Amino acid sequence: MLLNGKTAVVTGAAQGIGLAIAELFAGHGARVVIGDLNLEAAEAAAEKLGPARAARCDVTRAADVDALIATALEAFGSLDVMVNNAGITRDATLRTMTEEQFDQVIDVHLKGTWNGTRKAAAVMREQKSGAIVNISSLSGKVGMVGQTNYSAAKAGIVGLSKAAAKELAHHGVRVNAIQPGLIRSAMTEAMPRKAWDQKLAEIPMGRAGEVHEVASVALFLACDLSSYMTGTVLEVTGGRFM
Ligand SMILES: NC(=O)c1ccc[n+]([C@@H]2O[C@H](COP(=O)([O-])OP(=O)(O)OC[C@H]3O[C@@H](n4cnc5c(N)ncnc54)[C@H](O)[C@@H]3O)[C@@H](O)[C@H]2O)c1
Repeated sequence: MLLNGKTAVVTGAAQGIGLAIAELFAGHGARVVIGDLNLEAAEAAAEKLGPARAARCDVTRAADVDALIATALEAFGSLDVMVNNAGITRDATLRTMTEEQFDQVIDVHLKGTWNGTRKAAAVMREQKSGAIVNISSLSGKVGMVGQTNYSAAKAGIVGLSKAAAKELAHHGVRVNAIQPGLIRSAMTEAMPRKAWDQKLAEIPMGRAGEVHEVASVALFLACDLSSYMTGTVLEVTGGRFM
């Protein structure tokens, strides 16, 4: 029970990595609030998690993130962990990517994570405690073909997390990031077989990761096991691009 009595908000947790994080946190005694664009799926997920709530939230909208955090405070009285996980891809090469595709991806990942980080920090600073976990990507470390928007946003999340970590450390608030590699989820299963096999060949461990293998690292960063860590970036990649 690593998060007993703690309240955690997880964005984009109606499915995939976020849902796995919400489930693992709940299993460790956390009261979880799921924020997602897809309210129906978020509510269905929350119902299975014991004391949990769901809220419709578009992370690009500051007012939605405010309301999400207010839901946690009203229902459970604190905000101890914030996981900024919501994400989308709009892959296209530089030649074909539209300005709209660029803006959408920057908005959801970078503005969304900024919104989640600053809004959570406002509460945690007063509490003098808290842990923020931001989901970046290996794409933000090495840059990937067809992802100038996504690689830029995910690299941006690293800079954002480190800057916030420096601002918040003396308030007892830690900020860390995770860079998952190829993880089996709806986002990656939409990929053509050839692209999947190409990526697999780059992974020393010879397999894709599972969502629970990202969730366990998020749990580590969210709980006191990592009490002396802030501003770090943990790679969950099976050794890919180490
Ligand atoms: N799957 C991977 O291989 C992988 C690798 C590296 C990083 N990531 C990152 O992990 C995170 C989760 O990815 P996933 O694979 O679980 O994807 P997913 O598509 O399965 O789930 C993403 C969730 O985010 C929600 N969402 C999208 N836009 C939103 C918005 N504006 N506001 C609120 N919610 C929104 C979706 O409704 C969905 O429930 C993302 O940030 C992604 O970039 C995934």
